[in-house]
Amino acid sequence: MSHQAYIESNKERFLNELLDLLKIPSVSADSRFAGDVKKTADFVAERLKEAGADKVEVCPTAGHPIVYGEKFISADLPTVLVYGHYDVQPADPVELWHSPPFEPVIKKTEEHPEGAIYARGACDDKGQMYMHVKAFEAMMKTNSLSCNVKFMIEGEEEVGSANLGTFIKANKERLKADVVLVSDTSMIANDTPSIDVGLRGLAYMEVEVLGPNRDLHSGVYGGAVANPATILCQMIASLHDENNHITIPGFYDDVVVVSEADRAEMAKAPFSLDAYKKDLGVNEVWGEKGYSTVERTSIRPTLEVNGIWGGYTGEGSKTVLPSKANAKISMRLVPGQNSHKIAQLFKNHFESMAPAYVKVTVTEHHGGEPVLTPTDSTEFLAAAKAMETTFGKKPIPTRGGGSIPIIALFEAELGIKSILMGFGLDSDALHSPNEKYGLFNFYKGIETIPYFYQYYAEMKK
Ligand code: BES
Ligand code: MN
Ligand code: MN
Repeated sequence: MSHQAYIESNKERFLNELLDLLKIPSVSADSRFAGDVKKTADFVAERLKEAGADKVEVCPTAGHPIVYGEKFISADLPTVLVYGHYDVQPADPVELWHSPPFEPVIKKTEEHPEGAIYARGACDDKGQMYMHVKAFEAMMKTNSLSCNVKFMIEGEEEVGSANLGTFIKANKERLKADVVLVSDTSMIANDTPSIDVGLRGLAYMEVEVLGPNRDLHSGVYGGAVANPATILCQMIASLHDENNHITIPGFYDDVVVVSEADRAEMAKAPFSLDAYKKDLGVNEVWGEKGYSTVERTSIRPTLEVNGIWGGYTGEGSKTVLPSKANAKISMRLVPGQNSHKIAQLFKNHFESMAPAYVKVTVTEHHGGEPVLTPTDSTEFLAAAKAMETTFGKKPIPTRGGGSIPIIALFEAELGIKSILMGFGLDSDALHSPNEKYGLFNFYKGIETIPYFYQYYAEMKK
């Protein structure tokens, strides 16, 4: 039986297994879900074993466990290291979901006429990760696996992969491979396949602006003591200038400038600004002057406030001049920039602009480095040919706006390049309420992955 025929006759079961996986709330950020995170790791390990993997292990870490499994066939064949994550983002605000985040339902939409699975993690990354488990099963059961495989599925991607770096450093021999294969990114559209050849890095900061030694009556003291919330807003507002350039001194110094020829090439990829605005419900887009929307979310660095709080935010009103105000601020980085250097530049700048009426402290959270991968490598050509086979169209090389910090570490620690063969859509609402993943996308991924193994093995000969 061909792998395609095997997939066709096991479609229903593949989907039901994914639905079961989506029912376990593996929220890595929230310690109340630690038991469920562990359960999810065990679930993935069991499915890997059933699919035919050897040496399956749920490896404990200082945080959530890493699932490892492998199938070795021959030292003459190349080895593919599959990376993915089984943890998910928190579901809140839960009240904005049309159906409970951990009770998956399938609904048809304009974009997904064949139906989409609505659940937290449907696309990011349980649905995409699970395609690899099922593609592996299909190759095993039809005797068509053409590469050695190693699986490394982690449970801390959404919280910065803090313990995965340690695991990689401690397991260099075990993780030896020729290429890392990842499905945790998006493509342009279901009829426009693309492969990300770059990802942005990340520097994530937390700031605190401290004023008086206690919350004050805003009538008794307001007007005479600086309000930390006001000062914080002024400081944050000053981080962009009138052209929406970031004002931190030195911020752009190391940015690799993309050539006009490359920008012109990128601009050829289909993109509808109208559809983009409509999807987001905004009248106008915003961003750095001189760059298109696609460029602003791929080749240019950015700075965002992720959260801001201080003073009274409860029901009704309370007259208070808060003692402090805080914000979480992140910067997306592009090739050339280094997350630690940018974090330091931010800290120096933010602290130095603090007026005398407040004390400002800046701390650094996790970060990650940007990546760029070649389009003329064997692995890229194999991935492109695989997608061309199943979509009937050559995939367009694109640069993703999100971050997967571990990708840069694979290269730095193991010397292996990654292929970011994602099957999601940006509109699948990753990290948002009502996250979804198209059934078309799930099955297309399962169908495409075996071709990657086949072409990669052929091209590597
Ligand atoms: N799968 C995403 C990254 C992604 C999504 C890349 C879409 C390209 C296109 C990943 O799970 C993620 O959300 N990463 C975080 C970084 C992490 C350190 C929390 C991100 O990009 O914010
Ligand atoms: Mn992800
Ligand atoms: Mn994510």
